[in-house]
Amino acid sequence: MSDRVFNFSAGPAALPEPVIQQAQKDLWNFRGSGMGILELSHRGTWFDTVLEEAEADCRHIGKVPADYRILFLQGGATTQADTIPMSFLAPGKTADYIDTGKWAADAVVEATRHAKNIGAHVNVAGSSKDVNYNRLPTNYSFTADGAYCLYVSNNTIFGTQYQTPPDAPAPLIGDMSSDFFSRPMDIKRHAMLYGGAQKNLGPAGQALVIVSDEFLATAPADTLGRMFDYQVQAKKQSRFNTPNTFAIYLMGQVFKWIITEFGTLEQAETYNRDKAAILYDAIDSSDFYSAHVQNLADRSYMNLPFMTPTPELDKLFIKEADSKGFTTLAGHRAIGGMRASIYNAFPVEGCRKLVKFMHNFEREHASKATASVQ
Ligand SMILES: Cc1ncc(COP(=O)(O)O)c(C=O)c1O
Repeated sequence: MSDRVFNFSAGPAALPEPVIQQAQKDLWNFRGSGMGILELSHRGTWFDTVLEEAEADCRHIGKVPADYRILFLQGGATTQADTIPMSFLAPGKTADYIDTGKWAADAVVEATRHAKNIGAHVNVAGSSKDVNYNRLPTNYSFTADGAYCLYVSNNTIFGTQYQTPPDAPAPLIGDMSSDFFSRPMDIKRHAMLYGGAQKNLGPAGQALVIVSDEFLATAPADTLGRMFDYQVQAKKQSRFNTPNTFAIYLMGQVFKWIITEFGTLEQAETYNRDKAAILYDAIDSSDFYSAHVQNLADRSYMNLPFMTPTPELDKLFIKEADSKGFTTLAGHRAIGGMRASIYNAFPVEGCRKLVKFMHNFEREHASKATASVQ
């Protein structure tokens, strides 16, 4: 569509265009019901179908085993990070956390606060804070009988990503906000996976939770507010109160799109890795650009932070790129520079065109950069 740009936003992020086009139609009249999707009762038969299809498609494409619940919950990923210690950390127990950047560090702060209140403990089992999170931790000290171990699968700001889940002995919880459904997931290896929807799956303010029945049963019943009680939410199939019906609808459409577009998450991964390789090749083959993450094995194929030789040139790059239709490329303030976020729905064409722009920008500015450094 000619009136759309290449949107490199880290989230809310570019959604699949066919999904947005379908949503436009369904806002007016959903499947001939004479009502728009926003107007359907959350307990009516039309919405029953929406929820059933969203769950079935999610289970199918994600290969979610039968003994795992799929929950569509409100409040984004942060609400999950806050609810997890309240649900699964009991007095006297220790929870392991791996600190790989802001979202993990924020979760540690919240868990520590809660642990203090109830006489439990938080163990930071690994951290790469000392190198400004430009790689994953190299050493881990896990608790043998921990309540759980929480890690962030893909670090949206710093651009690192676990290729395989960490080797923690405790029930493993993964924050997959920025790489959910971008590759096959080893669900059985996890007690729980969660993520905000606004990158790969749908609108902001919504979370997807995949949790094993076995782990769910370890949460104490009737001690939490009802909205924060995973068992209540599972029993009520995400409809304890009025859920965000539009978010669930849109996530359902995205699952359908993933099935049509890729067929399998293996295919999605190939597509995503190819896109990232186009950009990393351009960065690595140039003396002008550099990647924040140098350790190749730790690099994310979803979020790629990179920079030019100077902060001034970074600013200029972002401005000129924006004027050419490559938007939201500014890096997070924690590292500056640029960040290209290229989730499932971001087209390969956008990566190819950005590389052309990068070459032109380099040609135009490399000599000035050298002159100013000398
Ligand atoms: C990895 C990760 N975890 C958690 C969050 C927080 O998500 P939310 O804003 O949905 O609470 C983000 C947001 O960007 C994220 O990237």
